[in-house]
Amino acid sequence: MPDLTARQIMIDTHGPAGNMIVKNIPLGAPGPDEVRIRQTAIGFNFIDVYQRSGAYPLSLPSPLGHEAAGVIEAVGRNVTHLKPGMRVAYMNAGLGAYTDLRNVNADKLVPLPDTVSDEQAAATIFKGMTAQYLLKHTCPVHAGDMVIIHAAAGGVGQILSGWARALGAFVVGTAGSDEKCAIARAAGCDIAINYRNENWMEELLDATKGRKARVVYDSVGKDTFLQSLDLAQPFGMVVLFGAASGPAPDISPEILNKKGCLFLTRPSVFPHNADPERFRANAGDLFDAIAKGFVKVEIAARFALEDAPAAHELAESRTTSGAILLVP
Ligand SMILES: NC(=O)c1ccc[n+]([C@@H]2O[C@H](COP(=O)([O-])OP(=O)(O)OC[C@H]3O[C@@H](n4cnc5c(N)ncnc54)[C@H](OP(=O)(O)O)[C@@H]3O)[C@@H](O)[C@H]2O)c1
Repeated sequence: MPDLTARQIMIDTHGPAGNMIVKNIPLGAPGPDEVRIRQTAIGFNFIDVYQRSGAYPLSLPSPLGHEAAGVIEAVGRNVTHLKPGMRVAYMNAGLGAYTDLRNVNADKLVPLPDTVSDEQAAATIFKGMTAQYLLKHTCPVHAGDMVIIHAAAGGVGQILSGWARALGAFVVGTAGSDEKCAIARAAGCDIAINYRNENWMEELLDATKGRKARVVYDSVGKDTFLQSLDLAQPFGMVVLFGAASGPAPDISPEILNKKGCLFLTRPSVFPHNADPERFRANAGDLFDAIAKGFVKVEIAARFALEDAPAAHELAESRTTSGAILLVP
């Protein structure tokens, strides 16, 4: 007999933001390896749009959402390192973060230090862990490296920019308006270029005096990918990690030779944090970066859980910058 009811955002079919509906789902006691969390803040991520729209198809009906923070209410019998009352966060516990109440496997949770609030955690655990693996594992960034970050005023973009700067890199960002370029500079970019201007590549190379990047972080995809190959220095790396404007065009591997023996990778945050010990170590690195001020948490907007459609519409409008939260 279920003892509680969770309010869960679900989709029955892929499509526009209005397809998201609230369902009341019975929630049983946590399993032996699980804990029950009363969620206090849920992070929006652009992958939620891909999964809702069907760009990344799901098995339907499906819940949505990857990251949240909250307080533990109950623990399963095998869980010894977590206790009721502890504040925790997660980013890789399977779909279903858009809810007020949830049972989550204890290995997927990280306790929050006093220096990180629930809202800060929900705003950064997915995006910050993304920046963490991109800067520390995919292409470790060192002092003096030039990096290019597309969509630098976005959620991941702002964190990447500030953290890359703190590592001593020369940071060049792109963004979709002059206002967003100012946000990118405030976040840590030495130079920010409006890539909606027709000649943005020439502008960028003028601004860097022709210097190209050791690594280009490209989450925009279709609109920027081919240019990214031209903005990496010989033997540099292009990291394609998203498709905000649509999937990147197919290329022949020979192009990598012609553009300067480039390295190309398409990584994801989930495998980088699949191992529980590695997840906790990576999260520790992120929390340390927040405490040192390398990673700043800008909350752009808060929505009630049932207003998830408005949150998605705001993100898709490209008019916002920083993190969007759902508050159950
Ligand atoms: N592979 C991974 O491990 C991983 C993990 C997390 C996130 N990501 C990717 O990182 C990117 C940023 O994620 P986020 O959650 O922080 O989102 P976000 O940056 O807040 O939003 C996406 C940004 O993409 C830019 N953009 C360019 N063309 C767009 C278009 N046609 N429609 C909408 N936006 C467009 C927008 O900035 P401008 O208006 O300035 O262009 C927008 O701010 C996403 O592509 C996401 O999929 C990848």
